[in-house]
Amino acid sequence: MGKSFSDRIKRISYGGDYNPEQWPKEVWAEDMKLFREAGIDTVTLNVFSWAALQKADYEYDFSKLDEIMEYVRENGLKVILATSTAAHPAWMASAHPDILRVNYYGQKRKFGARHNSCPNSPTFLKFAPRLAGKLAERYAKYENLIAWHISNEYNSVCYCKNCEAAFRDWLKEKYGTIEEVNRAWCTSFWSHTFYDFDEIVVPNKLTEETSRFETCFQGISLDYRRFLSDSMLHECALEAAEIKKYTPDVPVTTNFMHFFKDLDYRKWADVLDFTSWDSYPFFDEDRADVSMWHDYMRSLKGGQPMLLMEQTPNVTNWQKYNFIRRPGVVRLWSWRSVAHGADGVLFFQLRRSQGAMEKMHGAVIDHVGLGTTRSFKELAVTGREFEALGDTLLGARTDASAAIIFDYDNMWASEYCCGPSRDPEYKSYRNEVMRFYKALNALNISTEVIAEEDDFDKYRLLIAPIMYMVKPGVRERIERFVENGGTFVASAFSGIVNETDLVYLGGYPGPLKKVLGIWVEEIDCLPPEEKNSFVYGGKRYEAKQYFDIISSLDPTCRPLAAYEHDFYAGKPAVTKNDFGKGFAYYVATRSSDDFYFDFLSYIAKEAGVRPVYEAVPGLEVTERHNENGRFTFFLNHNDDSLEITLPAAGRALLSGENAAKGDKVVLEPKGVFILQESAK
Ligand code: GLA
Ligand code: ZN
Repeated sequence: MGKSFSDRIKRISYGGDYNPEQWPKEVWAEDMKLFREAGIDTVTLNVFSWAALQKADYEYDFSKLDEIMEYVRENGLKVILATSTAAHPAWMASAHPDILRVNYYGQKRKFGARHNSCPNSPTFLKFAPRLAGKLAERYAKYENLIAWHISNEYNSVCYCKNCEAAFRDWLKEKYGTIEEVNRAWCTSFWSHTFYDFDEIVVPNKLTEETSRFETCFQGISLDYRRFLSDSMLHECALEAAEIKKYTPDVPVTTNFMHFFKDLDYRKWADVLDFTSWDSYPFFDEDRADVSMWHDYMRSLKGGQPMLLMEQTPNVTNWQKYNFIRRPGVVRLWSWRSVAHGADGVLFFQLRRSQGAMEKMHGAVIDHVGLGTTRSFKELAVTGREFEALGDTLLGARTDASAAIIFDYDNMWASEYCCGPSRDPEYKSYRNEVMRFYKALNALNISTEVIAEEDDFDKYRLLIAPIMYMVKPGVRERIERFVENGGTFVASAFSGIVNETDLVYLGGYPGPLKKVLGIWVEEIDCLPPEEKNSFVYGGKRYEAKQYFDIISSLDPTCRPLAAYEHDFYAGKPAVTKNDFGKGFAYYVATRSSDDFYFDFLSYIAKEAGVRPVYEAVPGLEVTERHNENGRFTFFLNHNDDSLEITLPAAGRALLSGENAAKGDKVVLEPKGVFILQESAK
């Protein structure tokens, strides 16, 4: 393992993707001047230069990159160096067609676009790590090299012959015998029995799947997702290993994407030294979505600070409607990244390109080329704030006593499951996770986002939305967690299958029956207009979408709310089981935001989970701490100003003024206030 990213820097990194190769040298000088004005200290170089760096099988040319590396070093900039392997050269595709993917429809691709290499192509597996190693060897001596950025936004899928062969090997390794594959996938169904591994073909539109999200054969589709994620990870690990040969102390990362479904980031985090991600929320996206993904990125490396690798400084070009971030929003969102654990905030891109696909994508320096634009001036304010703080916040961590499970295997499997609904809105695992996370976020409860495999014992409150798949050992760990005093919450459609999607017989929620103290006998699913209701804590809430019908409770379990309509009126909609020293709750249906807020506010209190600050609409409050003290971040997402009362004495970090406990502070619309309490 290399050092952490935070150890390599002296201030919060600020900057982003920089492509001087697209510009004449006079422009470089102008860039340097504007970077200084904006407090920019970090450039991500070489993201898409493979074609320039490698001209034939064993012919490389680093002259341009050498020049750029020298130039930015002379200008005092830190470098995050990309390996350039996210788009292969055209000559390579024509000389070695195995590098080209086969798409979901079974069509062999030709050269074009990006993120275009087959992860099991012998050519790709040879030349991509080789390039990474050559770059590391060549630029190891640059002390301003602060991190490696492997490839870029790994994504997409392949269904070629090489992938098919590798998949069969992956299955042999996992299951040993074809009989075991047949058992695990339940192939006695629809005459799917296999007699030989070579009979297994990749699941796509030509075979089992009607779309990427619906399949006739869950076992194989689920394993193929796991396999493709593993395949890409394997390639990433090869690049990382080459890099480590020459620069063992320079940490490596790759930029993850917001709620990206194809890669199991929990597994990926193990080969990276730190996590980073790209945040491009849509116009109507709930703000908690971004906060949750920040928390997830931080949690993936045990709470170690992460990096916001990309966001737009003002506007995107690829969304359906590319809205300008309103005044104050980019600064607020940049601080939000830091508030949730980022030690760097970077943009795509630093200078807006003149041609091709991204010429209408925003940049720090716009086509006008001036530092006098509205957006540039706002960006410069944040850059100078980061600059002025030096290392004060670096390495700061967040203590969370609440955790929410976001598990890829569970997401893939629950969404592939045919039933109880085919409505993507109903099936969405993300939506259900967000129902709970949004409440935690609104309550200003510091939260970690973890997988089923992670350690539960360090939390007081553990929430498992749709725990459809219960993997081996999870039941035991949840029972121990609750027995020892933890509070566990599960939601409708949980405890259904094992790790290969075979149903746990003997009643739902399978292995969670004991800890939850319930038996779910039937599951009702109704169209959106068909609502039920329940009363909880004296207030009526809607029930919608899924309705688990609980027909018996253990003596230790009691209903907290009951359905009010239909033939299951009177049956529990929310239950609470006493189990050892703790409690296990079940929310048998889905409800509206106010329910999750009220419910979690009650059980968090009961579980001894303390919010960082009281809940105020539109106000987000988080905490980080390091040897320089404890920092409370107040972020006003509202369009109106807001008054807060300081919960402790300290110093206003951004102004340097002293602050007393109980002081009133007015946050302007989109305003940020950070309270520093000195270290004891
Ligand atoms: C992604 C990519 C970048 C760029 C941006 C545009 O995040 O990593 O190369 O295309 O999107 O928003
Ligand atoms: Zn392939």
